[in-house]
Amino acid sequence: TGLVTLDPGFTNTASCESAITYIDGDQGILRYRGYPIDQVAEGATFLEVAALLIDGELPGTEALEALEKRVAEHAPLPGGFEAFLAALPAQAHPMATLAAAVNALAAWYPEVVDPRDPEQVDTATAMLLAKTSTITSALHRRRTGQALVAPDASQGFVADFLRRTFGSEGGEYAAEPAIVDALEKLLILHADHEQNCSTSTVRVVGSSNANLFASVAAGVNALSGPAHGGANEAVLVMLEKIRSGGETVETFMNKVKNKEDGVRLMGFGHRVYKAYDPRAAIVKKSADEVLEKLGAKDELLEIAQGLEQIALSDEYFVSRNLYPNVDFYTGLIYKAMGFEPAMFTPLFALGRMPGWIAQWREMVNDPSTKIGRPRQVYTGATERRFVPITQR
Ligand code: CMC
Repeated sequence: TGLVTLDPGFTNTASCESAITYIDGDQGILRYRGYPIDQVAEGATFLEVAALLIDGELPGTEALEALEKRVAEHAPLPGGFEAFLAALPAQAHPMATLAAAVNALAAWYPEVVDPRDPEQVDTATAMLLAKTSTITSALHRRRTGQALVAPDASQGFVADFLRRTFGSEGGEYAAEPAIVDALEKLLILHADHEQNCSTSTVRVVGSSNANLFASVAAGVNALSGPAHGGANEAVLVMLEKIRSGGETVETFMNKVKNKEDGVRLMGFGHRVYKAYDPRAAIVKKSADEVLEKLGAKDELLEIAQGLEQIALSDEYFVSRNLYPNVDFYTGLIYKAMGFEPAMFTPLFALGRMPGWIAQWREMVNDPSTKIGRPRQVYTGATERRFVPITQR
């Protein structure tokens, strides 16, 4: 079986070749298909970025309109799906429901699950982009005891998502353009991040020829953990705890530095970035703008800024290259928009959908793809003689 190399957490193992996203963690550079993240976030819409990631090129007007139309057509949920969602506890964590719902798409649409059929994959792609937005708005509606709002194909993807989430059944709700833009930007910033935990999960599951829905549902579950996408919710919980406990940022930071009860500064640190996360820089600016726009002065923002200020000059954080990551300030924006903390990670999933899909498709079309099957270094007992239960 030859020599194997132990690499816990795959810190030094490339699992694939990829032409989608470039990260230089030392310099804090992130590019989608070669385009710098700040330019993409400033100039594109979310579906434009989805097309860029999935197809490899920025779409022209016609191609983008065709994608928008296609996605809008797939927004409604199929018959019985709402009852399926309603069968799960309304107060279940939305990530549990979202993963189940994405998985269930394979049960509802068995005609589009062949990974080798490009037309089926294209349909499944449009379905996932569309229905994740419908399902995510449904998660909020169910938690708040409100009926679902039907999609409106005449609205933009993000505007209609917000309308369906916060609007009344009659549909008379229009988010301010500045809020639509802010959410658009946040979704773009989350759209891909090369071989992170959830994306690697999507690829490994897909490498067994499992279908796109099954692979992406696994990605949603991987994202739910607080070390990954669940960090955005964990940041808010941490900030609330500091406020309600009357703790100062200094005493909290001392706990982190002393590693008391394994407390970490959530929203800080990254496996790849050893410089300021370029996404966090954009989010931080956006947080200031959105909170100002909504007149939502939030004490939690001040706590967050206080934590960051200490971290950026403290030996513990500086020597370990710990900077704010994308999750540090996003929750404050989502909160100001009206989302409760449990909804933050589903929003991350909605944003990451194009990346998962693009990476899965790249994997399927890569002739060098083999089933993901890491090796191990065995540390258990050597051979032992079996003892029957009566003699133990
Ligand atoms: N607070 C305090 N100490 C930290 C933190 C933190 N947030 N992150 C890392 N460290 C320390 C860690 O204790 C270790 O110290 P030592 O060398 O004394 O043992 C050192 O820094 C290296 O940490 P690590 O855990 O070996 O690093 P990693 O690359 O395995 O983990 C991470 C990366 C993101 C899981 C980790 O930084 C973390 O847990 N951060 C908090 C959770 C978080 O914000 N996750 C979101 C990640 S970014 C976007 C996303 O995926 O959602």
